[in-house]
Amino acid sequence: MRILSGIQPSGTPHLGNYFGMMKPAIELQAAGEAYYFIADLHALTTVQNPHDLRANVRELAVDFLSCGLDPHRSVFFVQSAVPEVTELAWILSTVTPMGLLERCHSFKDKTARGLAASHGLFAYPVLMAADILLYDSDLVPVGKDQKQHLEVARSIATKMNETFGDIFKLPEPSIREDTATVPGLDGAKMSKSYKNTIEIFASESVMKKKIMSIQTDSTPVDCPKPTEGSAILGLYKLLASSSDYAAMVEDFERGGIGYGDLKKRLFAAAWEYFAEQRMRRAEILNDPQTVTNILNEGAMKASEVAGAVMQRVREAVGFGFSTRC
Ligand code: ADP
Ligand code: TRP
Repeated sequence: MRILSGIQPSGTPHLGNYFGMMKPAIELQAAGEAYYFIADLHALTTVQNPHDLRANVRELAVDFLSCGLDPHRSVFFVQSAVPEVTELAWILSTVTPMGLLERCHSFKDKTARGLAASHGLFAYPVLMAADILLYDSDLVPVGKDQKQHLEVARSIATKMNETFGDIFKLPEPSIREDTATVPGLDGAKMSKSYKNTIEIFASESVMKKKIMSIQTDSTPVDCPKPTEGSAILGLYKLLASSSDYAAMVEDFERGGIGYGDLKKRLFAAAWEYFAEQRMRRAEILNDPQTVTNILNEGAMKASEVAGAVMQRVREAVGFGFSTRC
């Protein structure tokens, strides 16, 4: 089974990225042949400063490796290092109905937030379909917000197969419901765009400050506190053992402990959770050449698969005039 996923280098990775995408992807490494990439072509729709883009790619590579992406098990590469994907995206775009893209939430959300309505932003799901189909992927682990993009990829693959014969497998999404939406500091979905993130590798003081700033209601210390929709509990569930989580739920329901103390407990769990990863990260940061080598080697392996699939596609759509006639 081939597993594939990508993540945009659009900022510093946070707990939403970790629990929604990175952790499930890392766990799936054991289940098959994993292809994981840093989606810099996608990020170019929003990060249009070359220095920032390069820095983000490196930071994401370092953080993903620190969290447990194993380059001996997975092919890890940068999307733009395999340029076939842009050729495939063009071919796919010729069978993609405008209406399919017009219905996509992410384009509507991003333009509503003030991003320029570029063609790249509109065609984003086509490039994502190309990512998936170029590697004959079976399973695609992503967060819930990417579900519609997976449906678009399946729809485009079906259209290609109907038009040109059986070229593509239909990829299956893998969306873990337990961690589907990680809450941010304000209780809304944690996201860079909402400025409510906790970065995985924030320094101790920054992580503590952020956690202490989680928005809470004005329930007095002695009173029972609402558990429904609590960001403290939502995050603690991901970071603590199930018995510690159950104990915190009891403390919420019983009352007598203030939000400040509950947040301190959350911080301790978050800091402890990433202790091993922080150690690994310190080693990786000491050896930048190894990160470069891993990504270069990944790109070479990815290119082999991409080259073979593109030959199949070119043949199917009728390219190769000069070699045939
Ligand atoms: P952001 O919203 O911060 O810009 P991205 O859109 O770059 O994050 O998301 C990268 C990956 O992380 C995607 O697979 C996405 O589904 C996942 N992800 C991001 N935020 C969350 C969250 N709060 N909960 C669950 N998954 C998330
Ligand atoms: N669009 C995804 C996100 O914002 C990143 C991505 C690009 C991706 N190509 C992909 C995810 C292919 C899975 C498969 O998170």
